[in-house]
Amino acid sequence: MVSRLTSEDEIAKMRTAGRLAASVLEMIGEHIRPGITTVELNDLCHRMIEDELDCVPAPLNYTNGPGQPPFPKAVCTSVNHVVCHGIPSDKKVLKNGDALNIDVTVIKDGFHGDTSKMYFAGKPTVLAERLVKVTQECLYRGIEVVRAGARLGDIGHAIQTHAEANHFSVVREFCGHGIGRTFHDEPQVVHYGQPGTGMVLEEGMTFTIEPMINAGKRDVKILPDRWTVVTKDHKLSAQWEHTLLVTSTGAEVLTRREEESFG
Ligand code: MF3
Ligand code: CO
Ligand code: CO
Repeated sequence: MVSRLTSEDEIAKMRTAGRLAASVLEMIGEHIRPGITTVELNDLCHRMIEDELDCVPAPLNYTNGPGQPPFPKAVCTSVNHVVCHGIPSDKKVLKNGDALNIDVTVIKDGFHGDTSKMYFAGKPTVLAERLVKVTQECLYRGIEVVRAGARLGDIGHAIQTHAEANHFSVVREFCGHGIGRTFHDEPQVVHYGQPGTGMVLEEGMTFTIEPMINAGKRDVKILPDRWTVVTKDHKLSAQWEHTLLVTSTGAEVLTRREEESFG
């Protein structure tokens, strides 16, 4: 079912979930430095989500299908060539120059807020800085085309065009998704495609845009843990994600952080 909010009450609850998810990304930034482990970052987020925000971390014990083990942690931490769904680990110590995505999904009052951003431990390489910037621009270009009457292919096309103009590639196997009471709902919001194709957006729909952009080839593989997605060529990957509400004139960015301005 497509996540479509029909009441002011549901919209208010999605706004709250989105704002709380964003606040976790705002909190964690100052903790990211060479020497910290990804499980320490997970635990800081986990404690805030449960104890301070009184939310449920949606990834914890989440599973996407039969045979996939439950995700064992509260957030995803994806470092360098990890595309997405990295599992926080006490073995993963950040080193100077690492590029890291933290992906937070909270459930508040039955509604989900899903958002991620990129961080650097210490001083990034020139390539990492450029990939991370272009990937954020891809997300923003996708958001810019969202309004009632636009189509899903318009979003994918905007993202793919910007990524490829910068000689980067778009991951095809994972996509944005409808979101609301359900974590991963229809439609699939792919990050490539043709304008004027795909589902027509309607006011009240809520979905994520979360482009994964690779410095090298687009191909990915899944590690034996059945979760961690990495680039086949082991080159860098970056991702940014927001949860959006479609309005008559555009998109309301439900997971907007203080540092961002839209519109
Ligand atoms: N937050 C991810 C997304 O954007 C999904 C993570 S599922 C998990 O859709 F189980 F790995 F956490
Ligand atoms: Co998502
Ligand atoms: Co996410």
